[in-house]
Amino acid sequence: MKVLTVGGGAREHSIAAALKHGGAKIYACMKNKNPGIARLSEEFALVSETEIDAIVRYAKSRAVELAFVGPEAPLEAGLADALATSGISVAGPTKSAARIETSKRFMRELMERHSVPGRVRFLASDSMDEIKDWLDLNGCDVVVKPSGLTGGKGAKVYGEHLSSSDDVMGYCRDIIEKKLGGTGIAVLEERLQGEEFTLQGLCDGRRVIPTPAVQDHKRAYEGDSGPNTGGMGSYSDSDHLLPFLSKEHYDSALDIMRKTKEAMRAEGIDYRGILYGQFMLTREGPKVVEFNARFGDPEAMNVLSIIESSFLEMTEGMATGSLPGKCGFGQRATVCKYVVPEGYGTKPLSGEKIEVDEDAIKKSGAVLYYAAVNETDDGIFTTTSRSVGIVGLGGSIEEAEGQCERAISNVRGKVFVRHDIGKSDLIRKRIEHMCAIRGETNG
Ligand code: AMP
Ligand code: GLY
Repeated sequence: MKVLTVGGGAREHSIAAALKHGGAKIYACMKNKNPGIARLSEEFALVSETEIDAIVRYAKSRAVELAFVGPEAPLEAGLADALATSGISVAGPTKSAARIETSKRFMRELMERHSVPGRVRFLASDSMDEIKDWLDLNGCDVVVKPSGLTGGKGAKVYGEHLSSSDDVMGYCRDIIEKKLGGTGIAVLEERLQGEEFTLQGLCDGRRVIPTPAVQDHKRAYEGDSGPNTGGMGSYSDSDHLLPFLSKEHYDSALDIMRKTKEAMRAEGIDYRGILYGQFMLTREGPKVVEFNARFGDPEAMNVLSIIESSFLEMTEGMATGSLPGKCGFGQRATVCKYVVPEGYGTKPLSGEKIEVDEDAIKKSGAVLYYAAVNETDDGIFTTTSRSVGIVGLGGSIEEAEGQCERAISNVRGKVFVRHDIGKSDLIRKRIEHMCAIRGETNG
């Protein structure tokens, strides 16, 4: 079957690899030449991922039957709607359904209207008077974010980026006046305390089929310091839970996702594609930090590296409303670390050549996914985004981390890596933090 993939990052490399493994013939649209995707494809086109008309024309001209959209920007621009109108089945929500990610106001109000569990106190407003009244009532221990898309970099947290009610009001004013996130609506949320985790589900409008839980690392530098990034790396455990996450809490998060999908269905929204839940495990259980309308990056790499069911069948199932009851994943732990250009997070060094010893990485047993690099006749060059994702696998997180580290030394250039991801020291800190939140002593 001919399948269109959209996007040129490591997430999309892992998607294309999983589809190809299931027997798909890949036709890729991406803005940079990702060497991994290029090699897996029958053919590819270099095109901006929001050029809807050009992508649809390409897909039709190649008689593509099925499409998988990787990033959020084309979903917000209506790519799934346009492909469907052209008779191509799509695993990716319509523009209206993608509001679960593209409008934080829509997401919070939807959960409220349907009393979905895992809610937080919030206000979505473009009125400074209303914001002031709400802060007077609720206090300023909040997180402030624009309602619309900001590439994961729009949230400011009281106690970290904001230290007074003047700061909170100042950032709200910036969001409103500069129309940050596109609409100029500020969302204020109670600040949640706990450990974050990701749960991604495959949706066909009716079912939500879960994948293993994953924990991402947003901060650029070791010890969770430095600026927020798109994600520096992530891990998952062989039992599909996390060292601080019980089955009961995993099931509560899945229940929240299923009820959110039901809420959309009740409002006439047929959600087909990946539903990504970002949760904070708090003292009272999981609460929703955000939803995304797509796989996480890096989290896609963790789950697609161990998928045992045919991802082509799953993609067809999502697109056509006919998912099977279950998707199988291997009982393996995974640790993914991103190799990023020097300066990533502040001033990334783009256009720098990197050397990747693919044979050595293959021999190590780890899996290599190219990210936002560009391949030319002269080699592989960095862009301003992440360069290469390496996934180590093992019976335990420790084993997977060791394999990832042995492989990652085979990527060379002006780059850096958060080596602490998946290491026992950092994992112990996560467990201790969760125990402190629950008011327990560890061990
Ligand atoms: P978002 O833009 O909603 O994805 O938020 C980015 C990051 O800000 C999240 O991954 C959290 O670390 C943090 N954050 C967002 N909302 C909250 C919240 N209500 N409470 C605590 N932290 C949050
Ligand atoms: N890893 C976070 C995201 O994909 O939004």
